[in-house]
Amino acid sequence: MNDVMTASQKADALEHRMMDDLQKAIAVKSRLFLLADGDFAMPNGAKLQSEHPGAKMLMGDDPRLPKMPDKPTLIDFFKLRFAPAMHLLQSARHAKVAGMPEKIVLACLLHDIGVLGFIRSDHGYWGAQMVEPYVDEEVTWAIRAHQALRFFPDEAAGYAYPDNYKQYFGEDYRPEPYIVAEYERARAHKWYGTARMICVHDLYSFDPDVHVELEEFTDIVGRNFRQPEEGLGFDNSPSAHMWRTLRQPTKYL
Ligand SMILES: [Fe+2]
Ligand SMILES: [Fe+2]
Repeated sequence: MNDVMTASQKADALEHRMMDDLQKAIAVKSRLFLLADGDFAMPNGAKLQSEHPGAKMLMGDDPRLPKMPDKPTLIDFFKLRFAPAMHLLQSARHAKVAGMPEKIVLACLLHDIGVLGFIRSDHGYWGAQMVEPYVDEEVTWAIRAHQALRFFPDEAAGYAYPDNYKQYFGEDYRPEPYIVAEYERARAHKWYGTARMICVHDLYSFDPDVHVELEEFTDIVGRNFRQPEEGLGFDNSPSAHMWRTLRQPTKYL
């Protein structure tokens, strides 16, 4: 590696060296990533093997990531996959300090795990689906609804349209019709207030001076998140595959 390489070239070179050392070929970038990069040529096994003769496709743990226990808990995922997760911890702390019930503190703690675990696009829906088998129905509903509510102010509830959204998306940004429809349904729902509290305690600017430890929420998680005995990913729940993918995101198949 030399100084004139870009960061991305260095990362690629490191990846190639690692693959040669391990004799494992890793299809590192997902189809979603490649599409976003404008690269439509998904590398297949034959191509990877021609670049790394003798290498086998990775079918297990990615050695670049921290190893997870055999029966991982939500706390393990926070530590080993979502970390540092400061946005979630700061939001949950904000809700806790405001005296919110545990259900809402938990919803704040989990509201963006779709972003941390998978992808930004439609993250409220992804995140809600991940936790659905393990939390109160109201928590799932609220995480899903925050996707839409965040774009609509409710001054009476203490939520203004975020200033940084004007910078991020432009003054003239308007949410898509499915988000507007979701908002209208949510507005009329009995759990509207719960989802709105996620927005109220969602900290839009990361505060570098506030450090929150995950341990502050261990008890709330213990009381409100039904941790499966087999470990997340191995309990045959409707979202188990999502947790397994997060555990081994670069497995070939
Ligand atoms: Fe969010
Ligand atoms: Fe958030």
